[in-house]
Amino acid sequence: MITALNEQFLKDVIAGLSKPQKQLSSKYFYDDEGDKLFQQIMLMPEYYLPACELEILQLQTQSIAESFGYNTFDIVELGAGDGTKTVHFLKKLTDLGKKIVYYPLDISADVLATNQQQILEHIPGLEMYPIVGDYFETLGYLKHDNPKILLFMGSNIGNYENEKAVAFLKLLYDKMNPNDLLMLGVDLKKNPKTILNAYDDKQGITKAFNLNLLRRMNVELDANFDIDEFDHYPYYEPITGIAYSYIFSKKSQDVHIDGHKISFEENEMIHTEVSQKYSLKQLDDIQRVLNFSSVQHFLDNRQYYAVSVFKK
Ligand SMILES: C[S@@+](CC[C@H](N)C(=O)[O-])C[C@H]1O[C@@H](n2cnc3c(N)ncnc32)[C@H](O)[C@@H]1O
Repeated sequence: MITALNEQFLKDVIAGLSKPQKQLSSKYFYDDEGDKLFQQIMLMPEYYLPACELEILQLQTQSIAESFGYNTFDIVELGAGDGTKTVHFLKKLTDLGKKIVYYPLDISADVLATNQQQILEHIPGLEMYPIVGDYFETLGYLKHDNPKILLFMGSNIGNYENEKAVAFLKLLYDKMNPNDLLMLGVDLKKNPKTILNAYDDKQGITKAFNLNLLRRMNVELDANFDIDEFDHYPYYEPITGIAYSYIFSKKSQDVHIDGHKISFEENEMIHTEVSQKYSLKQLDDIQRVLNFSSVQHFLDNRQYYAVSVFKK
């Protein structure tokens, strides 16, 4: 049975799979099983991104905090996830004597419950207000007296292709007060083989994460995908800096989703996700184009990844 909650999911799926180039939104990766698979991806040696971001937060939070120029501020994290990395950042800030209030925003109530448990276990008494919902909406609910630092970590900005990323950052810019800052975790362009490996692990966890979207449709949308008849195809284009993820049909087949028939040709691709990589020059260009007054980059020791702080 299709509930009101997954009506939007159904609408998006039918629209996406009816396009000439079939596509599914990556925001639907994260059901319970998807959350678990993503946590496994974060631990894979090939998926260097979280380790780089964590290294920067563990070793450079003092310098990052100095770049903020405030002792009292609110931290609003978009798509906060389970807080595994942010907890190190918040702990260091409180150890440095900063007075902070933390607002993790996420579409998944489950992941926010884990976030709160994890943060309070390590920083008992931290004032925090988890907010469930689409951050485009929930960001509008917040009213701050203190300067706020918007966090958008995990290279999540990479899920928007170049111009869409700039449009998204412009939306954030417009919601920021003059004394607010934006802190972005960004995966940088590097050896293309290193990048491709991150999305093509030999254990098949990334494949399982992508194909979970089909399983989710079977469970929630009355679909009948034969998951063994689909596969995952990752691809990195080093000139544009975009890593693409696809699911493809291994044979010609029809699938029914809540009574809608969707036909697949043999080897037909469904686009599921992009992960845009940036150079520091591109990040500096974004600062200028959007009129941020400055940007400061903090890099890990391999220079794979940047935490970039933009001042309005
Ligand atoms: C890839 S995870 C990253 C989590 C965390 N930022 C990190 O770096 O580990 C993306 C998170 O964003 C959340 N998310 C995706 N789209 C969202 C939206 N439109 N509004 C709120 N949360 C969203 C997902 O539920 C998920 O927890």
